Amino acid sequence: MKKNIIVLISGRGSNLKSIINATKDKNYPASISLVISDNKNALGLRIAQNNDINTLIVEREAFTNIYSFEKNLIEKITFHSPYLICLAGFMRVLSNKFIDKFRGKIINIHPSLLPKYKGLNTHEKAINARDEYAGCTVHYVTEQLDSGKIISQQKIRIEKNDNIETLSKKVLEVEHKIYPEAIKLLLS
Ligand code: GRF
Repeated sequence: MKKNIIVLISGRGSNLKSIINATKDKNYPASISLVISDNKNALGLRIAQNNDINTLIVEREAFTNIYSFEKNLIEKITFHSPYLICLAGFMRVLSNKFIDKFRGKIINIHPSLLPKYKGLNTHEKAINARDEYAGCTVHYVTEQLDSGKIISQQKIRIEKNDNIETLSKKVLEVEHKIYPEAIKLLLS
């Protein structure tokens, strides 16, 4: 029996797509019961709909404050009682209350070799620092940004002629591999 997970997105949804593709294997331990976006224009919503997955738009602007926004989010998520809440390009920092409610169940993919380069512009930072390697990390979400326990990580070499664009493309390919694998690892 597959375990249900919820994916939270804000945009393009390429990681969502890689998870959806993985769930199509009958031996994969997870299925997606709901995709939530905080942006009604997120491309990922269309990807979910094209794959007959329930979607929900919960936009911050529709609520008077962050607490009522998250209260709504928590209610919707609790209704599905997911095994995991997978952030995939979800561009919002979650409050302590939210994290506490689902502690140990919220995971995220981040495009750097954490603990290096938390936050945004990770590829630019790696190139500017003349790092030999870049990569991506799947980790638990805790109160501190991009600081939760690491679940899996993969590195790739930064070539001399790499720029932000080429590097982000290479790292994204690896993200699409390790995120579905990490979910499988956690639910098997
Ligand atoms: C990815 O690079 C992910 O690591 C970061 O946000 C980006 C989301 O891309 N957290 P997509 O929406 O999955 O295509």
